[in-house]
Amino acid sequence: MKDTTATARASIDLALEPLPAFDVLVEELAIALARVGIRFDAGADGRVVEGPLEVGHVVSWRPGERLSLEWRQAGWDPGRVTEVELRFEPVDGGTRLTLEHRGWGRLIGDAGELAGWFAGEVVAPLLRVRAPLAFGDWLTDRRARRPSGAQARTFYRDPLYHYPNFCVMLAELALTADDCLLEVGCGGGALLKAALQSGCRARAVDHSPDIVRLAQEVNRDAVAEGRLEVLEGSADSLPFPDATFTCAAMTGVLGFLPDPVAALVEIRRVLARGGRLVVMGTDPELRGSPGAPEPMASRLRFYENDELEGLGHKAGFEEVRVVRRNLEPFAREAGVPEEHLALFAGSGGGARFLLARRG
Ligand SMILES: C[S@@+](CC[C@H](N)C(=O)[O-])C[C@H]1O[C@@H](n2cnc3c(N)ncnc32)[C@H](O)[C@@H]1O
Repeated sequence: MKDTTATARASIDLALEPLPAFDVLVEELAIALARVGIRFDAGADGRVVEGPLEVGHVVSWRPGERLSLEWRQAGWDPGRVTEVELRFEPVDGGTRLTLEHRGWGRLIGDAGELAGWFAGEVVAPLLRVRAPLAFGDWLTDRRARRPSGAQARTFYRDPLYHYPNFCVMLAELALTADDCLLEVGCGGGALLKAALQSGCRARAVDHSPDIVRLAQEVNRDAVAEGRLEVLEGSADSLPFPDATFTCAAMTGVLGFLPDPVAALVEIRRVLARGGRLVVMGTDPELRGSPGAPEPMASRLRFYENDELEGLGHKAGFEEVRVVRRNLEPFAREAGVPEEHLALFAGSGGGARFLLARRG
């Protein structure tokens, strides 16, 4: 029975042509649904599956125009069929993207109940994600804490402004072909790419699936040769046996860790005796600067020298010290535009790095 009562509608105008808007939406939707346990197989025969149930299947797939799904809203009433439609209409050189779910109201029935459902399940979540707390979290995750999406992929594939840190870290690690390097929070794999030039082997983890795929792609030859493995994983639970690595690196990650000591304990566990660690700090001077702007700044933890050193000691490292390095010469060498070099000059002695060794 086709249910024709009540239509829910949401819409946004995008400065994108309808076809790219369609492609981006489909890709992002599949990723976002996967995050909440729903599988979306995109395409003309596509379907949406939640647990054992097929919730929806594609009935119209017209890239750049429309995507319609027959949608089963009630697993306990499989005959109740509704319609979900995504329309891509050209407006003012861009696209109006509209989601419409038609006919879903009958199972609720009473108009007051319908209003309650709409207020609680649609309007309140929509307003919550537009309020500063959740919106700031989304921006922080999307750009740095758990990057995803095309913009993040472009940035992390070739993170020019991170190369100065990488230079310091590689100099401190002094890798050789005998090394087996761990990188935690590897982003798009740019540091790994540079590290592998030493002939070393490496393994890395990152908790963003999108960014793990990017790091694998950026280093596809090393992955194919078996010199590099990049896994989805969390800093505080590394998927490696004890004493696997001769050295480890972590950059751009520390300030985001809710329990940095737990992560450093894990790194120490997987380092062999004598294993060395280099971690880029999060310098308090960076708070609110282009290196750590809002909304990231208020979600990061910043560490003074003694705090940074304390983390290494608490994690059980036998040798711990903090060094400061002027990143400007490395920024110049990496090709950072002249007008941005001052960002790397640092104050009070330069950027902090935690150097530690397992005894
Ligand atoms: C600012 S990016 C830095 C990426 C890379 N290291 C660089 O410097 O270009 C931080 C990275 O750490 C990852 N990350 C943050 N917290 C993590 C955690 N608890 N476990 C694993 N990865 C984490 C994020 O997904 C992201 O890729």
